[in-house]
Amino acid sequence: MKTFLILEHKHEREIPKEFHLDDNRNPENLVRYFLNEFTKPGDLVLDPFAGLGTTLIVAEEVGRIPYGIEYVKERASYIKSQIKNKENLINGSSLELKSFDLPEFDFCFTSPPYTRKTHEVDAFSSYTKEGNYDQYLSDIHKIYLQIKDLMKKDSYIVIEVSNLKGDGEVTTLAWDIAKEVSKVFHFEGEIVIGWTGDGGYDGCGTYGFEYDHSYCLVFKNK
Ligand SMILES: C[S@@+](CC[C@H](N)C(=O)[O-])C[C@H]1O[C@@H](n2cnc3c(N)ncnc32)[C@H](O)[C@@H]1O
Repeated sequence: MKTFLILEHKHEREIPKEFHLDDNRNPENLVRYFLNEFTKPGDLVLDPFAGLGTTLIVAEEVGRIPYGIEYVKERASYIKSQIKNKENLINGSSLELKSFDLPEFDFCFTSPPYTRKTHEVDAFSSYTKEGNYDQYLSDIHKIYLQIKDLMKKDSYIVIEVSNLKGDGEVTTLAWDIAKEVSKVFHFEGEIVIGWTGDGGYDGCGTYGFEYDHSYCLVFKNK
């Protein structure tokens, strides 16, 4: 397994204007790399934070069968309009994963909603409710415990995430998520993604959050 990749932070697909302000998609090249490395044609792939559907769209492109959960209705509807397996996209919360009728998966790839240590909002309600960092990490744990029941033995689980600079502080989100999810799955190590390009999510660093790199945390369901 490579431990360092250099990729261009660039999106291949146009999205509707209404999503431009909060375009936190993974570049397609990242998703394609991981699907090619960790899956084969016909495999079932889960994205529990489907966003604007990059994992699902690229998975269909390369002949995998995607499933996804997305909390925000407008985002879920957009994904459905872009994929063939429309019934595989659920508009709901991954905190309720157990209540959905889902098959066993060969691979899980996602990028979770981000939060900072100092933010008092709940990222898993799309920032509409109050919350805090400890609650966030506890919810990550709850979600991945439910994902465990859905993963085939020896399958891989990958989380794309970065630490966050800003407000004179660093939130070590990537490292804290690695620690939480390691309580559920075996941590196989991180792949550092060095991002080239003009500017990332918030125009701050090629990735965003004052960083030019992010991590893909790789776990195995041993
Ligand atoms: C970083 S984005 C994912 C972007 C995605 N990888 C893409 O390329 O389009 C995280 C997504 O998780 C969604 N989300 C937040 N809380 C959720 C929850 N409880 N269950 C499912 N999705 C959730 C957010 O609405 C957001 O669209």
